[in-house]
Amino acid sequence: MTTGRTKLAGILGWPVAHSRSPALHGFWLRSYGIDGAYVPLPVRPDDLADALSALPKLGFVGANVTIPHKERALALVDALDKTAEVVGAVNTLVVRDDRTILGSNSDVDGFRDHLAASVPGGLAPGPAIVLGAGGAARAVVAALAMLGVREIVLVNRTSERAAKLAHDLAPLGQHFRLVDWTRRATALEGASLLVNTTSLGMAGHGELVLALDGLPTSAVVADIVYVPLETRLLADARRRGHRVVDGLGMLLHQARAGFKAWFGVEPTVSEALRAHVSGDLAGG
Ligand code: ATR
Repeated sequence: MTTGRTKLAGILGWPVAHSRSPALHGFWLRSYGIDGAYVPLPVRPDDLADALSALPKLGFVGANVTIPHKERALALVDALDKTAEVVGAVNTLVVRDDRTILGSNSDVDGFRDHLAASVPGGLAPGPAIVLGAGGAARAVVAALAMLGVREIVLVNRTSERAAKLAHDLAPLGQHFRLVDWTRRATALEGASLLVNTTSLGMAGHGELVLALDGLPTSAVVADIVYVPLETRLLADARRRGHRVVDGLGMLLHQARAGFKAWFGVEPTVSEALRAHVSGDLAGG
């Protein structure tokens, strides 16, 4: 039940109905007995500036932003943390006491924490192949920098976008090699990690077509898509004996920073949470 003291947070997206964040934060709010609510906020791209400036006025403690707002929100917040600035995208907003908005990017820690938890022994030596060059790819590359992965092979349909990513993230100190999208199968040799950050494989989008024959079986295969939970890429990789890392774990881990900032409790990513959010996924 909401009361006059209920702390309000939510997620701004367009469309937003697909988002599992309300289920995820709702689970934590109930588990920790917090008087809070986390609601879906369908905000059209043209209305993003108005919606963001309304958050403090409506008494929100903060919000997440998702597709397609992550890059535009960067210019609309009052302050940025260092990660968001480097990545060039924002996914977590905190309304501060003076009613200004701080933007940060928890996708970076989300990917890093999930990968580290899924591959406790660490990655084999060798470059990481990153498919895609959008906001999600930027977060993944920044996370890989934190994990000490120095060689990145970047494969994107639009080569200019890959070049811009490599340029913008150069301060992180990684070495980038750009490979044409049509030659992606040839990029896999010797890799320690393959990550799909494109929308391919997501329900309602096209399939990711990629023969994995050239990939060493020691390589870890990760997908940030989590609808479906097991994408074709992950199913193919599992059949070939690769260790696979799904997209749901990144979603769960990235949510921790916002929850802590808004509601004051450091939440845990547990099996019960995973089961709750995957049950919600199965229900569509
Ligand atoms: P996000 O912020 O989630 O990364 P995005 O910025 O829209 O979302 O990026 C989507 C990524 O998926 C991009 O790398 C995009 O490639 P382009 O830069 O060439 O647009 C990639 N992508 C989407 N549809 C694709 C398709 N049909 N084939 C290949 N790549 C695709």
